[in-house]
Amino acid sequence: MIELRNATEADLPEILAITNDAIATSEAIWATSPRTLDERRQWMTDRQAQNFPVVVAVDDGRILGFASYGPFRAYEGYAQTVEHSVYVSREAQRRGVGRLLLDEMVRHAEHSGMHVLIGAITASNTASIALHRAAGFSESSALPQMGRKFGRWLDLVFMYRLFESS
Ligand SMILES: CC(C)(COP(=O)(O)OP(=O)(O)OC[C@H]1O[C@@H](n2cnc3c(N)ncnc32)[C@H](O)[C@@H]1OP(=O)(O)O)[C@@H](O)C(=O)NCCC(=O)NCCS
Repeated sequence: MIELRNATEADLPEILAITNDAIATSEAIWATSPRTLDERRQWMTDRQAQNFPVVVAVDDGRILGFASYGPFRAYEGYAQTVEHSVYVSREAQRRGVGRLLLDEMVRHAEHSGMHVLIGAITASNTASIALHRAAGFSESSALPQMGRKFGRWLDLVFMYRLFESS
């Protein structure tokens, strides 16, 4: 059975492997050089120190994917806006793991008094756009040629959920 739980230090090698596979093979993340274990450790420690979630989906001891959110932009006015990311290993895709993780980000953000949960998604990432639509996210129009990877320009779409909060 697939379970969600908070990530721990022991999960970092698998989180690193999923991250680096997405960097090497997809336009989902506009990084081109692999991350290191130290970078992932720092990222997780920073998130957890600020009470932001880093959640893994686990099946029979194997990490199938992870999700997290953190600050959208540094200015005070954005304090209740958080930007999330969801990654599922290629072998585990289309089994509902992404949806479980995204729903957990929604639940956590709403429960924590956030007002906006937003994802920055490559316009050609049909899987992620379909996932977010299915989970009730609204979308901005595509911003053209906001970045570059694999020798071509990439368009960017923001997909967001608004929550009741003061
Ligand atoms: C996007 C991603 C997280 C989806 O995770 P997943 O576990 O495969 O998705 P799920 O199985 O939970 O799918 C939930 C719904 O999303 C949609 N969806 C997911 N993958 C899809 C695809 N390849 N094509 C079309 N729709 C898709 C469907 O509506 C699906 O429901 P259904 O299976 O009942 O039709 C995964 O493909 C991934 O990690 N990709 C690489 C990294 C990435 O793009 N991350 C998002 C960055 S913004």
